[in-house]
Amino acid sequence: MQTYDTVAAYRAWRYSLPSTSTVGVVPTMGALHAGHISLARAAASENTHVVVTIFLNPAQFAPTEDLAAYPKTMEKDLAALEELNASLPPDAPGRVIAVFAPTVAEMYPLGIPLQRCEQVGTFVEVIPLSAKLEGGTRPHFFRGVATVCTKLFNITQPKRVYFGQKDVQQTVILRRLLGDLHFDIQLRVIGTEREKDGLAMSSRNVYLSGERRQVAVVLSKALKAAESLYNNGESDAGKLLDAARRIVEKCGEENGGMVKLDYVSLNEPELLEEVEKVERGRGVILSAAMWVNPTREGEGTVRLIDNLILE
Ligand code: PAJ
Repeated sequence: MQTYDTVAAYRAWRYSLPSTSTVGVVPTMGALHAGHISLARAAASENTHVVVTIFLNPAQFAPTEDLAAYPKTMEKDLAALEELNASLPPDAPGRVIAVFAPTVAEMYPLGIPLQRCEQVGTFVEVIPLSAKLEGGTRPHFFRGVATVCTKLFNITQPKRVYFGQKDVQQTVILRRLLGDLHFDIQLRVIGTEREKDGLAMSSRNVYLSGERRQVAVVLSKALKAAESLYNNGESDAGKLLDAARRIVEKCGEENGGMVKLDYVSLNEPELLEEVEKVERGRGVILSAAMWVNPTREGEGTVRLIDNLILE
Protein backbone atom coordinates (compact mmCIF):
# COMPACT_ATOMS: atom_id res chain seq x y z
CA MET A 1 0.00 0.00 0.00
CA GLN A 2 1.47 3.32 -1.07
CA THR A 3 0.56 6.75 0.32
CA TYR A 4 0.59 9.76 -2.02
CA ASP A 5 0.40 13.30 -0.70
CA THR A 6 0.63 15.26 -3.95
CA VAL A 7 -1.67 15.31 -6.95
CA ALA A 8 1.31 14.87 -9.29
CA ALA A 9 2.63 11.78 -7.50
CA TYR A 10 -0.83 10.21 -7.35
CA ARG A 11 -1.46 10.91 -11.02
CA ALA A 12 1.88 9.43 -12.08
CA TRP A 13 0.81 6.20 -10.37
CA ARG A 14 -2.81 6.36 -11.60
CA TYR A 15 -1.83 6.80 -15.24
CA SER A 16 0.71 3.97 -15.03
CA LEU A 17 -2.10 1.44 -14.39
CA PRO A 18 -3.16 -0.81 -17.28
CA SER A 19 -6.26 0.48 -19.08
CA THR A 20 -8.21 -2.60 -17.96
CA SER A 21 -7.84 -1.58 -14.28
CA THR A 22 -10.90 -0.46 -12.36
CA VAL A 23 -10.34 1.98 -9.53
CA GLY A 24 -12.80 2.15 -6.63
CA VAL A 25 -12.42 5.24 -4.47
CA VAL A 26 -13.49 5.68 -0.85
CA PRO A 27 -13.35 9.35 0.20
CA THR A 28 -12.88 9.90 3.95
CA MET A 29 -11.72 12.52 6.43
CA GLY A 30 -9.66 9.94 8.37
CA ALA A 31 -10.21 8.68 11.94
CA LEU A 32 -11.30 5.45 10.27
CA HIS A 33 -13.75 3.11 11.98
CA ALA A 34 -15.63 -0.03 10.93
CA GLY A 35 -18.03 2.04 8.78
CA HIS A 36 -15.19 3.36 6.61
CA ILE A 37 -13.64 -0.10 6.44
CA SER A 38 -16.92 -1.60 5.20
CA LEU A 39 -16.85 0.86 2.28
CA ALA A 40 -13.27 -0.18 1.42
CA ARG A 41 -14.25 -3.85 1.69
CA ALA A 42 -17.15 -3.28 -0.72
CA ALA A 43 -14.76 -1.50 -3.10
CA ALA A 44 -12.32 -4.44 -2.94
CA SER A 45 -15.11 -6.81 -3.93
CA GLU A 46 -15.60 -5.24 -7.35
CA ASN A 47 -12.51 -3.26 -8.42
CA THR A 48 -8.94 -4.21 -9.24
CA HIS A 49 -7.57 -1.25 -7.26
CA VAL A 50 -9.02 0.47 -4.18
CA VAL A 51 -7.96 4.01 -3.31
CA VAL A 52 -8.87 5.52 0.06
CA THR A 53 -8.60 9.29 0.30
CA ILE A 54 -7.91 10.85 3.69
CA PHE A 55 -8.41 14.59 3.71
CA LEU A 56 -9.86 16.67 6.53
CA ASN A 57 -11.60 19.20 4.32
CA PRO A 58 -11.69 22.68 5.94
CA ALA A 59 -14.20 23.94 3.35
CA GLN A 60 -17.00 21.89 4.89
CA PHE A 61 -16.53 23.17 8.44
CA ALA A 62 -17.98 26.46 9.70
CA PRO A 63 -15.67 28.57 11.89
CA THR A 64 -17.73 27.52 14.94
CA GLU A 65 -17.39 23.79 14.20
CA ASP A 66 -14.89 21.17 15.32
CA LEU A 67 -12.20 21.30 12.59
CA ALA A 68 -9.33 21.82 15.04
CA ALA A 69 -10.59 19.13 17.44
CA TYR A 70 -11.47 16.56 14.75
CA PRO A 71 -9.58 13.31 15.53
CA LYS A 72 -6.44 12.71 13.45
CA THR A 73 -5.18 9.13 13.55
CA MET A 74 -3.20 8.63 10.33
CA GLU A 75 -0.97 5.79 11.58
CA LYS A 76 -3.90 3.85 12.97
CA ASP A 77 -5.85 4.49 9.75
CA LEU A 78 -3.08 3.03 7.60
CA ALA A 79 -2.80 0.02 9.93
CA ALA A 80 -6.57 -0.57 9.72
CA LEU A 81 -6.38 -0.59 5.91
CA GLU A 82 -3.43 -3.03 5.97
CA GLU A 83 -5.48 -5.20 8.32
CA LEU A 84 -8.41 -5.11 5.90
CA ASN A 85 -6.10 -6.18 3.05
CA ALA A 86 -4.81 -9.09 5.14
CA SER A 87 -8.40 -10.20 5.90
CA LEU A 88 -9.60 -10.22 2.27
CA PRO A 89 -10.01 -13.63 0.62
CA PRO A 90 -7.10 -14.53 -1.70
CA ASP A 91 -9.43 -14.38 -4.71
CA ALA A 92 -10.87 -10.93 -3.85
CA PRO A 93 -10.82 -8.87 -7.05
CA GLY A 94 -8.92 -5.98 -5.44
CA ARG A 95 -6.94 -4.61 -2.51
CA VAL A 96 -6.40 -1.19 -0.98
CA ILE A 97 -3.42 -0.24 -3.10
CA ALA A 98 -3.15 3.46 -2.54
CA VAL A 99 -4.01 6.14 0.01
CA PHE A 100 -4.28 9.70 -1.24
CA ALA A 101 -3.68 12.01 1.72
CA PRO A 102 -2.95 15.52 0.50
CA THR A 103 -2.32 18.66 2.54
CA VAL A 104 -4.75 21.60 2.55
CA ALA A 105 -2.27 23.62 0.45
CA GLU A 106 -2.15 20.83 -2.11
CA MET A 107 -5.94 20.72 -2.43
CA TYR A 108 -6.53 24.49 -2.24
CA PRO A 109 -3.29 26.10 -3.49
CA LEU A 110 -5.05 29.41 -4.14
CA GLY A 111 -7.24 29.36 -1.04
CA ILE A 112 -10.83 28.38 -0.38
CA PRO A 113 -13.37 30.56 -2.19
CA LEU A 114 -15.87 32.38 0.05
CA GLN A 115 -13.93 31.36 3.16
CA ARG A 116 -11.24 33.27 4.98
CA CYS A 117 -11.87 36.28 2.71
CA GLU A 118 -10.63 34.64 -0.48
CA GLN A 119 -13.33 35.83 -2.87
CA VAL A 120 -12.01 34.38 -6.14
CA GLY A 121 -12.32 30.76 -7.14
CA THR A 122 -14.59 27.88 -8.05
CA PHE A 123 -17.05 25.93 -5.99
CA VAL A 124 -19.73 23.37 -6.74
CA GLU A 125 -23.17 23.57 -5.20
CA VAL A 126 -26.15 21.31 -5.76
CA ILE A 127 -29.21 23.51 -5.31
CA PRO A 128 -31.62 23.43 -3.55
CA LEU A 129 -30.73 20.06 -2.04
CA SER A 130 -27.78 21.49 -0.14
CA ALA A 131 -30.04 23.90 1.78
CA LYS A 132 -32.35 21.18 3.12
CA LEU A 133 -32.08 19.05 6.31
CA GLU A 134 -28.41 19.27 7.38
CA GLY A 135 -28.09 22.44 5.29
CA GLY A 136 -30.54 24.20 7.62
CA THR A 137 -28.06 24.11 10.48
CA ARG A 138 -24.87 23.90 8.37
CA PRO A 139 -25.47 26.30 5.44
CA HIS A 140 -22.07 25.92 3.69
CA PHE A 141 -21.49 22.29 4.51
CA PHE A 142 -22.62 20.66 1.27
CA ARG A 143 -20.92 23.26 -0.88
CA GLY A 144 -17.68 22.19 0.81
CA VAL A 145 -18.50 18.51 0.34
CA ALA A 146 -19.57 18.85 -3.32
CA THR A 147 -16.50 20.93 -4.17
CA VAL A 148 -13.98 18.63 -2.51
CA CYS A 149 -15.61 15.49 -3.95
CA THR A 150 -15.49 16.99 -7.46
CA LYS A 151 -11.79 17.70 -6.94
CA LEU A 152 -11.14 14.22 -5.53
CA PHE A 153 -13.03 12.53 -8.39
CA ASN A 154 -11.04 14.50 -10.98
CA ILE A 155 -7.76 13.65 -9.27
CA THR A 156 -8.36 9.98 -8.45
CA GLN A 157 -10.20 8.99 -11.68
CA PRO A 158 -12.44 6.27 -10.23
CA LYS A 159 -14.82 3.94 -12.01
CA ARG A 160 -16.86 3.61 -8.82
CA VAL A 161 -17.08 5.65 -5.63
CA TYR A 162 -18.29 4.38 -2.23
CA PHE A 163 -20.29 6.42 0.27
CA GLY A 164 -22.13 5.51 3.46
CA GLN A 165 -25.88 5.67 3.95
CA LYS A 166 -25.02 7.13 7.37
CA ASP A 167 -24.71 10.49 5.56
CA VAL A 168 -27.75 9.94 3.38
CA GLN A 169 -28.17 13.54 2.23
CA GLN A 170 -24.55 13.52 1.07
CA THR A 171 -25.34 10.51 -1.16
CA VAL A 172 -28.45 12.18 -2.61
CA ILE A 173 -26.47 15.33 -3.41
CA LEU A 174 -23.53 13.44 -4.92
CA ARG A 175 -25.81 11.31 -7.07
CA ARG A 176 -27.27 14.50 -8.51
CA LEU A 177 -23.81 16.05 -8.92
CA LEU A 178 -22.45 13.01 -10.81
CA GLY A 179 -25.43 13.11 -13.19
CA ASP A 180 -25.54 16.87 -13.69
CA LEU A 181 -21.80 17.14 -14.39
CA HIS A 182 -21.65 13.99 -16.59
CA PHE A 183 -19.11 12.20 -14.45
CA ASP A 184 -18.60 8.67 -15.82
CA ILE A 185 -18.58 7.27 -12.28
CA GLN A 186 -20.92 4.83 -10.51
CA LEU A 187 -22.05 5.70 -6.98
CA ARG A 188 -22.37 2.87 -4.47
CA VAL A 189 -24.15 3.45 -1.17
CA ILE A 190 -23.22 1.09 1.68
CA GLY A 191 -25.37 0.45 4.79
CA THR A 192 -24.66 2.04 8.17
CA GLU A 193 -22.36 0.19 10.60
CA ARG A 194 -23.63 0.45 14.17
CA GLU A 195 -22.37 -0.20 17.68
CA LYS A 196 -24.04 -3.12 19.54
CA ASP A 197 -26.66 -0.84 21.11
CA GLY A 198 -27.59 0.73 17.76
CA LEU A 199 -25.58 3.98 17.83
CA ALA A 200 -24.38 4.70 14.29
CA MET A 201 -20.58 4.62 14.10
CA SER A 202 -19.01 8.02 13.53
CA SER A 203 -15.55 9.54 13.87
CA ARG A 204 -17.21 12.04 16.23
CA ASN A 205 -18.28 9.31 18.69
CA VAL A 206 -14.86 9.66 20.37
CA TYR A 207 -16.23 12.91 21.83
CA LEU A 208 -18.85 10.87 23.70
CA SER A 209 -17.94 9.31 27.02
CA GLY A 210 -19.80 8.11 30.12
CA GLU A 211 -23.30 9.52 30.41
CA ARG A 212 -23.09 11.25 27.06
CA ARG A 213 -22.38 7.98 25.28
CA GLN A 214 -25.32 6.37 27.07
CA VAL A 215 -27.86 9.01 26.11
CA ALA A 216 -26.57 9.25 22.52
CA VAL A 217 -28.23 5.96 21.62
CA VAL A 218 -31.66 7.57 21.93
CA LEU A 219 -31.33 8.95 18.39
CA SER A 220 -31.27 5.50 16.78
CA LYS A 221 -33.94 4.28 19.23
CA ALA A 222 -36.26 7.13 18.20
CA LEU A 223 -35.83 6.32 14.50
CA LYS A 224 -36.35 2.61 15.17
CA ALA A 225 -39.56 3.36 17.07
CA ALA A 226 -40.95 5.36 14.14
CA GLU A 227 -39.90 2.56 11.80
CA SER A 228 -41.77 -0.06 13.79
CA LEU A 229 -44.89 2.13 13.83
CA TYR A 230 -44.57 2.31 10.06
CA ASN A 231 -44.08 -1.47 9.83
CA ASN A 232 -47.29 -1.84 11.85
CA GLY A 233 -49.24 0.09 9.24
CA GLU A 234 -48.93 3.79 10.19
CA SER A 235 -48.08 5.92 7.16
CA ASP A 236 -48.99 9.43 8.35
CA ALA A 237 -45.74 11.41 8.44
CA GLY A 238 -46.92 13.67 11.30
CA LYS A 239 -47.63 10.69 13.55
CA LEU A 240 -44.37 8.90 12.71
CA LEU A 241 -42.31 12.04 13.32
CA ASP A 242 -44.15 12.84 16.57
CA ALA A 243 -43.34 9.37 17.89
CA ALA A 244 -39.63 9.84 17.20
CA ARG A 245 -39.62 13.42 18.55
CA ARG A 246 -41.31 12.43 21.81
CA ILE A 247 -38.68 9.77 22.54
CA VAL A 248 -35.80 12.23 22.24
CA GLU A 249 -37.68 14.92 24.19
CA LYS A 250 -38.45 12.49 27.02
CA CYS A 251 -34.80 11.46 27.19
CA GLY A 252 -33.84 15.15 27.36
CA GLU A 253 -36.30 15.77 30.22
CA GLU A 254 -35.09 12.73 32.16
CA ASN A 255 -31.43 13.65 31.76
CA GLY A 256 -31.35 17.34 32.62
CA GLY A 257 -31.46 18.53 29.00
CA MET A 258 -28.46 16.46 27.95
CA VAL A 259 -29.95 15.79 24.50
CA LYS A 260 -31.84 18.13 22.21
CA LEU A 261 -33.39 17.30 18.86
CA ASP A 262 -32.39 19.51 15.91
CA TYR A 263 -34.80 17.95 13.40
CA VAL A 264 -36.51 14.72 12.45
CA SER A 265 -37.88 14.53 8.94
CA LEU A 266 -39.38 12.28 6.26
CA ASN A 267 -38.22 13.05 2.72
CA GLU A 268 -38.37 11.43 -0.67
CA PRO A 269 -34.96 10.31 -1.89
CA GLU A 270 -34.47 12.37 -5.06
CA LEU A 271 -35.33 16.02 -4.38
CA LEU A 272 -35.60 15.60 -0.61
CA GLU A 273 -39.14 17.00 -0.61
CA GLU A 274 -40.93 16.44 2.68
CA VAL A 275 -43.67 13.84 2.49
CA GLU A 276 -47.01 13.87 4.29
CA LYS A 277 -47.69 10.20 3.79
CA VAL A 278 -45.14 7.44 3.42
CA GLU A 279 -46.02 5.54 0.26
CA ARG A 280 -45.09 1.88 0.44
CA GLY A 281 -42.38 0.79 -1.94
CA ARG A 282 -40.85 4.23 -2.54
CA GLY A 283 -37.98 4.24 -0.07
CA VAL A 284 -38.64 7.32 2.03
CA ILE A 285 -35.75 8.73 4.12
CA LEU A 286 -36.39 9.09 7.84
CA SER A 287 -33.54 11.24 9.14
CA ALA A 288 -32.71 13.14 12.31
CA ALA A 289 -30.04 15.25 13.97
CA MET A 290 -29.54 15.72 17.68
CA TRP A 291 -27.21 17.60 19.99
CA VAL A 292 -25.67 15.95 23.01
CA ASN A 293 -24.84 18.51 25.70
CA PRO A 294 -26.49 21.40 23.87
CA THR A 295 -25.71 24.09 26.40
CA ARG A 296 -23.14 22.84 28.89
CA GLU A 297 -20.11 24.99 28.44
CA GLY A 298 -16.67 23.48 28.66
CA GLU A 299 -17.92 19.93 28.19
CA GLY A 300 -18.36 20.29 24.45
CA THR A 301 -21.46 19.94 22.33
CA VAL A 302 -21.62 17.00 19.94
CA ARG A 303 -24.02 16.91 17.00
CA LEU A 304 -25.08 13.46 15.81
CA ILE A 305 -27.03 12.41 12.72
CA ASP A 306 -28.70 9.16 11.78
CA ASN A 307 -31.29 7.85 9.33
CA LEU A 308 -33.27 4.82 8.20
CA ILE A 309 -34.94 4.13 4.88
CA LEU A 310 -38.64 3.20 5.15
CA GLU A 311 -39.02 0.75 2.27
P1 PAJ B 1 -16.30 10.91 6.73
O1 PAJ B 1 -17.21 11.44 7.77
O2 PAJ B 1 -14.91 10.52 7.09
O3 PAJ B 1 -17.01 9.66 6.09
C1 PAJ B 1 -16.45 8.98 4.99
C2 PAJ B 1 -17.45 7.99 4.45
O4 PAJ B 1 -17.73 7.00 5.44
C3 PAJ B 1 -18.79 8.66 4.09
O5 PAJ B 1 -19.27 8.14 2.86
C4 PAJ B 1 -19.67 8.26 5.26
O6 PAJ B 1 -21.05 8.21 4.94
C5 PAJ B 1 -19.13 6.87 5.56
N1 PAJ B 1 -19.52 6.47 6.93
C6 PAJ B 1 -19.40 7.20 8.07
N2 PAJ B 1 -19.93 6.54 9.12
C7 PAJ B 1 -20.39 5.34 8.62
C8 PAJ B 1 -21.04 4.20 9.20
N3 PAJ B 1 -21.33 4.17 10.49
N4 PAJ B 1 -21.35 3.16 8.39
C9 PAJ B 1 -21.06 3.20 7.06
N5 PAJ B 1 -20.45 4.25 6.45
C10 PAJ B 1 -20.12 5.30 7.22
O7 PAJ B 1 -18.30 11.98 4.76
C11 PAJ B 1 -17.19 12.49 4.79
O8 PAJ B 1 -16.15 11.97 5.52
C12 PAJ B 1 -16.82 13.74 4.01
O9 PAJ B 1 -17.97 14.56 3.88
C13 PAJ B 1 -16.23 13.43 2.60
C14 PAJ B 1 -17.24 12.70 1.72
C15 PAJ B 1 -14.95 12.60 2.74
C16 PAJ B 1 -15.86 14.77 1.90
O10 PAJ B 1 -14.95 15.50 2.65
